[in-house]
Amino acid sequence: MEYRKTEKDGVYVFLLKNESNQVYVTNYGATLLSWLVIDGHNNLQDIVLGYDTIEDYARYDGYLGACLGRVANRIAEGRFVLNGQEYKVPVNNGPNSLHGGVQGFSYKTFGYDMIDDSCVRFSLVSPDGDQGYPGTLHVSITYRLENDTLSIHYQAQSDAETLVNLSNHAYFNLDGASTIGEHCLRIAAEKFAPVDENGLVSKELKGLGEAMDFSSEKPIREALGSNDSDIAIAKGLDHPYVFASKKDPVTLYSPKSGLELVLNTSYPLAQIYTANYLDGRCGKHGVQMEAQSAICLEAQYMPDDIHRDPHSKTILRKGEMYDEWTSFTIRKR
Ligand code: BGC
Repeated sequence: MEYRKTEKDGVYVFLLKNESNQVYVTNYGATLLSWLVIDGHNNLQDIVLGYDTIEDYARYDGYLGACLGRVANRIAEGRFVLNGQEYKVPVNNGPNSLHGGVQGFSYKTFGYDMIDDSCVRFSLVSPDGDQGYPGTLHVSITYRLENDTLSIHYQAQSDAETLVNLSNHAYFNLDGASTIGEHCLRIAAEKFAPVDENGLVSKELKGLGEAMDFSSEKPIREALGSNDSDIAIAKGLDHPYVFASKKDPVTLYSPKSGLELVLNTSYPLAQIYTANYLDGRCGKHGVQMEAQSAICLEAQYMPDDIHRDPHSKTILRKGEMYDEWTSFTIRKR
């Protein structure tokens, strides 16, 4: 794959590789561009959606493969109070702030440090007041490929109390089909957070009805094709699932390619999003990316947690280390 290198802007593409995996990442948005693996039929599969040029990542929304920050997902009405002071962050998604604001981390050029063939660290200093958030925040995002596991390690420190909830927005499709419907999903969760028509989580968690229940593996089409009201309002899956188990809380399997992806993480939940707002825009190799042609497994803290929990884990105190990780293991079943 050829990416135009815009060296004058300090944007580069890095390859992490071993015998069975090639992972392309860029310091633009600390973004996962491609993950190439051999599937069950000996075909080469790129298991994440993306664009052909870095310019497209800068131009479009959708956050394909990007790091989300300072705060992934929504903050109601783009305001919150910390230490008795109200802060305003950009409203860029209906009435709410989404994925860190208009120029969130997905659109920033990170510093980089290629540690070895299988590890690269991206770093960023987000100044005090960046997108309205308080505190100078030093962030590092480390991608490491180890055997068939790609891990993302998030670290951050601030010189003043602030909010942080870092995630990654890779769009997975394990077989190249035009819909994710035949992929089988399992989520070790008994509860999820319903969302309103703007995608904002409600304060109360809800038990799983039939359609939303992935505690036993099932094809995603069974949920997408149902008339469940939680699915209808979000135009598909776009909900935080709270993990009931720490071990392998999410698995995604394509019977077509024989590939299985397993998520592990230090976070308590994942936003499961079936790419409901992809709109036919042009992706890699000129292929149009339609709604529900991929699935994002966005491990994070509870969205909008600052409005739910006065002791939210998304509050990062001065000098404290934010330290979280997510890993994806790809294997043949
Ligand atoms: C959100 C979606 C949003 C998408 C943007 C997801 O994390 O939950 O509602 O449309 O990001 O790509």
